[in-house]
Amino acid sequence: MNIVKTVADLRAAVARARSEGKRIGLVPTMGNLHDGHIALVKKAGQRADFVVASIFVNPLQFGANEDLDSYPRTLADDQAKLVEANCHLLFTPGVEEMYPGGMQYQTQVRVPGVSEGLCGQSRPGHFDGVSTVVTKLFNMVQPDIAVFGEKDFQQLAVIRNMVRDLNMPVQIIGEPIVRRADGLALSSRNGYLTPDELQKAPVLQQTLRTLANAIEQGRRDYPALLAEGNAALSAAGFRPDYLEIREASTLRPADAQATELVILAAAYLGKTRLIDNLAFSLHG
Ligand code: PAF
Repeated sequence: MNIVKTVADLRAAVARARSEGKRIGLVPTMGNLHDGHIALVKKAGQRADFVVASIFVNPLQFGANEDLDSYPRTLADDQAKLVEANCHLLFTPGVEEMYPGGMQYQTQVRVPGVSEGLCGQSRPGHFDGVSTVVTKLFNMVQPDIAVFGEKDFQQLAVIRNMVRDLNMPVQIIGEPIVRRADGLALSSRNGYLTPDELQKAPVLQQTLRTLANAIEQGRRDYPALLAEGNAALSAAGFRPDYLEIREASTLRPADAQATELVILAAAYLGKTRLIDNLAFSLHG
């Protein structure tokens, strides 16, 4: 695996691969790679001939009081995992390389609608930072495909809308959530949890499952169901940020007729904010 730090070296390496007729796949990450990320790299390897991963902790998507400084940076481990997963090229730019003009006047990409509400409401500016850095990475790499995890369900919807709205010539592929045996979705932020919090954390996924089962069995009293879900989370020691039942494709609030649904949650355990979601269909 080659490692490059500059856009010029990245472009040169990708151009070589393309001149050999290779299809280019991109997996953007912020590092601290776990099996969820590795599943993205492997999916990219199935759909493309030359896999590029990026590791960049993007300051533009962190709020002033968020964990930019403490976000885990584990480059040596990440490199070993990427080699193992057959990644061909790793791009690890510094902030100067990504934002040479500084961030204050950086042109930004905003995807209205789908980026509002849910995490967009709790983390103002977050999705503008995501769509901006992903646009830059797409322009730098010009991949044929790019793979993102479904754990960040709203992020994936934002990116799909951005690609559609701006006619970006890249196919977006979503990869299912990877979970621990106890159901907890893998996340770099799980590393912040104390042993006690780690034991409680699977309740987030269990709550989503309980709500989905109730809907599958015919309940449509969504406000009451969500109140029950919030109560279950609070009882387990979470501080819920949001718990919502939405239409899976638009992320608009679901009414009783909607059949393609996603339940999304964000909740704090101590200082750690966890997110999870469960998408399901009421057709057969
Ligand atoms: O999902 C992430 O890790 C980040 O939001 C992404 C897509 C790499 C953009 O910084």
